[in-house]
Amino acid sequence: MQIKTSEFVKSSQKWQECPEPTLPEYAFIGRSNVGKSSLINAMLGRKDLAKTSGTPGKTQLINHFLVNENWYLTDLPGYGYAKVSKSLRKDFEKLITNYILNRKNLVNLFVLIDIRHTPQKIDIEFIEWCGENGIPFSIVFTKLDKMKPNAAKENVEKYKVELLKSWDSLPEIYVTSAEKKEGTEEILNFIRTTNDFLTKNKVDFNG
Ligand code: GTP
Ligand code: MG
Repeated sequence: MQIKTSEFVKSSQKWQECPEPTLPEYAFIGRSNVGKSSLINAMLGRKDLAKTSGTPGKTQLINHFLVNENWYLTDLPGYGYAKVSKSLRKDFEKLITNYILNRKNLVNLFVLIDIRHTPQKIDIEFIEWCGENGIPFSIVFTKLDKMKPNAAKENVEKYKVELLKSWDSLPEIYVTSAEKKEGTEEILNFIRTTNDFLTKNKVDFNG
């Protein structure tokens, strides 16, 4: 998909403050520092539209970006950030889960996972939670450039094995590098195809 325009719309502290849910929306979620904001920039061909940082916990609000004037890409705060107090962490979790459960126009959630790690409890639990709540999601491995190709493949395989312990079939899986702009076109193609489907079937999120 060609990106003609992309713009920051607003930051929201809760789902009730998000833009009117009239357009299809795709959100990026995952642990703090996994590379959500970086991948959004890479997909949109923008350097610093979504704010990134080497320090975890950079994104603390729900950030909406409008793309090609007809769909939203949403950057969410990371989950599982250890360096904030327990109560603040709970607040973030609530913000995230409330957003996911209540956002009417959320079409798909991209769950980002750092390809360098073997399956982590917190990610597996989050994916299970999506399943229990009927949330459509895909898995996106990040930071591919930080690993040797074979080791990366091995880690993806380990993840698949872990997922198949509780799922009958695997979700869509993307392997990406924001640094090298790899895998971004595949995600954009998925979004384009999904948007086309929604338009063809005249899906109205407020209907
Ligand atoms: P929070 O907003 O804190 O939840 O983090 P985030 O998930 O938005 O991560 P962010 O995009 O800010 O990136 C975190 C760090 O990882 C930054 O230092 C990025 O430069 C780095 N990073 C992100 N993606 C990649 C990648 O594909 N390759 C490499 N080498 N570094 C990356
Ligand atoms: Mg971020």
